[in-house]
Amino acid sequence: MAKSVSNENSVLPQQALMSMLLGVPVLHMITTAAHLGIPKKLEAGPLSAREIADQCGTLEDATYRLMRGLSAVGVLHELEGRAFSLTPIGECLRPGRPGSFDALAKLSGSAWCSGSFADLMHSITTGESAFSKQHGEELFSWFSSHPEEEQLFGDAMSTFSGVEVDLVLSAYDFSSARSVVDVGGGHGMLLARILGVTPAARGMLFDVPKVIERAKATWLAGSLLKRCEAVAGDFFKKIPEGGDLYILKHVLHDWDDTRALQILSNVARAMPLGGKLLVIEQGVAPRGVASPGKILDIVMLALLEGGRERSADDHQKLFEQVGLRFDRQIDTPGPISLFLGTR
Ligand SMILES: C[S@@+](CC[C@H](N)C(=O)[O-])C[C@H]1O[C@@H](n2cnc3c(N)ncnc32)[C@H](O)[C@@H]1O
Repeated sequence: MAKSVSNENSVLPQQALMSMLLGVPVLHMITTAAHLGIPKKLEAGPLSAREIADQCGTLEDATYRLMRGLSAVGVLHELEGRAFSLTPIGECLRPGRPGSFDALAKLSGSAWCSGSFADLMHSITTGESAFSKQHGEELFSWFSSHPEEEQLFGDAMSTFSGVEVDLVLSAYDFSSARSVVDVGGGHGMLLARILGVTPAARGMLFDVPKVIERAKATWLAGSLLKRCEAVAGDFFKKIPEGGDLYILKHVLHDWDDTRALQILSNVARAMPLGGKLLVIEQGVAPRGVASPGKILDIVMLALLEGGRERSADDHQKLFEQVGLRFDRQIDTPGPISLFLGTR
């Protein structure tokens, strides 16, 4: 039976609501700890708030209160003598490891990202992006003049990929793919991992120029570049031909139906007859089923002009409008689904 969205466990409704309302301070506690490098400093073992404050140049008492607060939400353990260690949740924030949440923690609490949610009313009353209202342009065009934010965004997307790649690899059999094109593939983590399990396949990463540069220096660095082209371009103009499997992961949800259709029709034009398309999204689960995609949908509403999560029916309609057959939805045990199409 579908799991209900309503709160059915033993937590009182008031307690549940209280912890939801504390989401903003908790987010900023985690973001601040990431910026101070606290998870990194605790890698080698416990440290006291005083030692952390000395290393960070912060106030000892305020640093202790920050770390104690983080222990209240399970990110740190509080030990004797105002010392702290990382919990398994805190371990996920250690930077420099595949799938680290460091960049996502910094991104989520950044003024441009979290500030957009303070203006959610604008999106709910007009359907327009709160981000665009505040910054006077859309997120992806704003990135072209904000390279540091663009890099942080790309690194944070790799956090999502770190959680999702194993789910994708176990949900879909890539063994027959000969040429995989990841469109809007970010820093290339998914493509690198797919090529890792398909030694005979070639790959192509397609994204905007700055992101492609970073991909070459990170996930596609080294010998992988021999089997993988990294191509800069604009998916609204033309998508390279030559793949037998095209991937769009967390790309269509950034755009309204009109622009999603432009991307899809450029993909369809590039695909050979019989070629496959994998759209990977959190998607929207049926009515009454609690799924994180229903929250991500609000993130899309606030940050991106026309961005939205879509159901399997929505994907089927989009596929059919560009002449692709919608084959099926493949669910994973995690928060993402694969929507499979054929030309
Ligand atoms: C939400 S991210 C998803 C990245 C990656 N697929 C993932 O799942 O981690 C969307 C990607 O689309 C890329 N993108 C945005 N506009 C683009 C355009 N006009 N042409 C090509 N790529 C674009 C962004 O640079 C970004 O890497």
